[in-house]
Amino acid sequence: METSSVSNKAVFAFYLALCLVIHLVHSTVTYDRKAILINGQRRILFSGSIHYPRSTPDMWEDLIQKAKQGGIDVIETYVFWNVHEPSSPGNYNFEGRYDLVRFMKIIQKAGLYAHLRIGPYVCAEWNFGGFPVWLKYVPGISFRTDNEPFKRAMQGFTEKIVGMMKSEGLFESQGGPIILSQIENEYGAQSKLLGEAGRNYVNWAAKMAIEMGTGVPWVMCKEEDAPDPLINTCNGFYCDKFTPNRPYKPTIWTEAWSGWFTEFGGPIHQRPVQDLAFAVARFIIRGGSFVNYYMYHGGTNFGRTAGGPFVTTSYDYDAPLDEYGLIRQPKYGHLKELHKAIKMCERALVSTDPIVTSLGASQQAHVYSTESGDCAAFLSNYDSKSSVRIMFNNMHYTLPPWSVSILPDCRNVVFNTAKVGVQTSQMQMLPTSTHMFSWESFDEDPSSLDDSGSTITALALLDQLNVTRESSHYLWYMTSIDIGSSESFLHGGELPTLIVRSTGHAVHVFINGQLSGFEYGTREYRRITYTGKVNLRAGINKIALLSVAIGLPNVGEHYESWSTGILGPVSLHGHGLDKGNWDLSWQKWTYQVGLKGEAMNLASPNGFSAGQWMQSAIVVQRNQPLTWHKTFFDAPEGDEPLALDMAGMGKGQIWINGQSIGRYWTKYANGNCSFCNYAGSFKPPKCQFGCGEPTQRWYHVPRSWLKPSQNLLVIFEELGGDPSRISLVKRSVSSVCADMSEVHPNIKNWHIESFGKSEEFHPPKVHLHCNPGQTISNIKFASFGTPLGTCGNYEQGSCHSPSSYAILEKKCIGKPRCTVTVTNSNFGQDPCPKVMKRLSVEAVCSPTATNWRG
Ligand code: GAL
Repeated sequence: METSSVSNKAVFAFYLALCLVIHLVHSTVTYDRKAILINGQRRILFSGSIHYPRSTPDMWEDLIQKAKQGGIDVIETYVFWNVHEPSSPGNYNFEGRYDLVRFMKIIQKAGLYAHLRIGPYVCAEWNFGGFPVWLKYVPGISFRTDNEPFKRAMQGFTEKIVGMMKSEGLFESQGGPIILSQIENEYGAQSKLLGEAGRNYVNWAAKMAIEMGTGVPWVMCKEEDAPDPLINTCNGFYCDKFTPNRPYKPTIWTEAWSGWFTEFGGPIHQRPVQDLAFAVARFIIRGGSFVNYYMYHGGTNFGRTAGGPFVTTSYDYDAPLDEYGLIRQPKYGHLKELHKAIKMCERALVSTDPIVTSLGASQQAHVYSTESGDCAAFLSNYDSKSSVRIMFNNMHYTLPPWSVSILPDCRNVVFNTAKVGVQTSQMQMLPTSTHMFSWESFDEDPSSLDDSGSTITALALLDQLNVTRESSHYLWYMTSIDIGSSESFLHGGELPTLIVRSTGHAVHVFINGQLSGFEYGTREYRRITYTGKVNLRAGINKIALLSVAIGLPNVGEHYESWSTGILGPVSLHGHGLDKGNWDLSWQKWTYQVGLKGEAMNLASPNGFSAGQWMQSAIVVQRNQPLTWHKTFFDAPEGDEPLALDMAGMGKGQIWINGQSIGRYWTKYANGNCSFCNYAGSFKPPKCQFGCGEPTQRWYHVPRSWLKPSQNLLVIFEELGGDPSRISLVKRSVSSVCADMSEVHPNIKNWHIESFGKSEEFHPPKVHLHCNPGQTISNIKFASFGTPLGTCGNYEQGSCHSPSSYAILEKKCIGKPRCTVTVTNSNFGQDPCPKVMKRLSVEAVCSPTATNWRG
């Protein structure tokens, strides 16, 4: 008996192993002209970009779960070479925010797939496009072309990443989550410019990638010439005109831009969700089968990771999950509904090609109907101005402007891209109980700069990056001039003008230790010219120019060769100079990398000695530029995301317990924040917000960086500001809004006729819900009738049911969520017969613990 049980066990174990092998062998990802196939099944896949270093590891699981609940199947991330191999070849870092394997395993645990865009060029508004700065100084290198040193380094990093993923069993071919990988990024335009070298490089990159043997397909985005078997894919605001370069490849959208990034001094760009949903629906009905939202969660450019230059620390991107990882409504909810509706059509979509019929000048029907009886229809109205009533399959449908209606059974509309049924949430930054007491300061004091000590000297102006090698944002350029006592400007003549030409990105000018001026560029015009009268005295005068890098470029032809810093000329001009204009560019310049405070490690919890800091009162009064400030604070209770309100400050950097939150700059947003209409082609300038306010006022403080008490906050302020105005705030929902139209009586009658009395007619409802821990404390606005405006600015229209407030208050106050039916009967009586009405509500959310009755 025992022998037989042993042998049974052995047979069972063998059987299990066999199943595993079969599973492994069969668990493959392939593709055909219709879609990506996973285990032989064509799939319509929704994907979302979440870049692991743009949040903290304790946020990852929540972000990925929220993505899953939003109907996302795949998480996409770039791999950021310069955080993994930052300072020299072979010195790798995969810790903390850079723990790529952990990120992949969280995706796997959530039951989602991954798209790993290795690049290693990533663009992404990331410092230097993801390349480590040391790479620029590899002898003979030229980036992203048929260049041996570059190809060697690129292959080395790609092998490193693929090797890591393989050894952890993370490719789908091994039972892991990775179903796709990307090599290079948007190489098409560069390839064309470079001609043969570009083509050779593309072919080499494709071959190199394939030879890695990952068992899953590779893509190249925006690269028409992507060689087989790589799939070329589309990036953009719309991709419905895109077709892959071979008829046997699927139609993939690797970057559906959910919003846009911001730069210091620019406005916030938002993309209306109705337009994004319209673009996605259009792509799907034209045969697209994979859509990746870039970004699904944008997050934060911590430390010095923001590129551009001038890209803000916030990389919020108007994504469905906001910078802090909170759900952005209605964007998140509306896309979730879209995904649900499209998934209802999946079988029909992947099995057949559509029959397209015209329904009007700008209206079309795409019908996917299969022999096995599936039928899905998409009715589109491309007109950006008017809604239309069309006839389809002997039935009437109304299509709002610039919209697609989805009919998974070719009869009932389950979703229209322009009709937002989900609530809108208004977010707010609330004060916390945390106070920042007793600021202390440390003065960089340019007058004490040492131009003889541990510095570099040259008879020329040097490129900043070449000197700093990115060890600091800052480089001092120092020189002296000897002014003869007979110079006429010393005796009432015209003061000389100093002209400093810099290739970027900002410069502070000090003459004899006194601030003389500040100049900065923009993302488009990095080059700057400082021009200012200078106060010189007889004898030796010290000119000290502090050049500041505000993120290295991440895109542009051979951007690695662009220079940063003061390359001159630096000159003095004016009639008051006896020998005429004076070019200082070729005299002796002394360089000092970084700030004194950096060398002293002022930002680090172990790096400073108490004696170096002064009590703040004196400095605050002086409102001194180039000043370090420090304080300690206790972590506020709760789990809402936290931010520092920097409105009272100018420009600089922030560290918490030694970790850099990033650059701050409260520069005001210049833009045109006029009305934004969802209908019509979207481009970032179309929908601008925040004009006349600081582009970025709040700076994310990850909860996981805090301990319960005695957190060290260090700020380096370049321009001067009042640190006593800095406060720690928490982000939460302040109010929620919902809008819903009643159903036209004809549609109701049709529904009852078609489905008989037994089929219940479901009238539309508004659903309101606050965040966990909150309840509805007040109905700020309610109108059943013809209300006007949008969430936060509703107004009553000419028709208004007098019972609107009473009904909403009764159903919602004191509850975390509520539902209200949008029918005449629910509001007592029809306030304006024969007029189509809607219900608009704004409800205030407050913490449950507070006494909401006041
Ligand atoms: C794309 C690029 C992305 C990102 C995006 C703009 O062209 O591939 O990495 O830079 O533009 O946010």
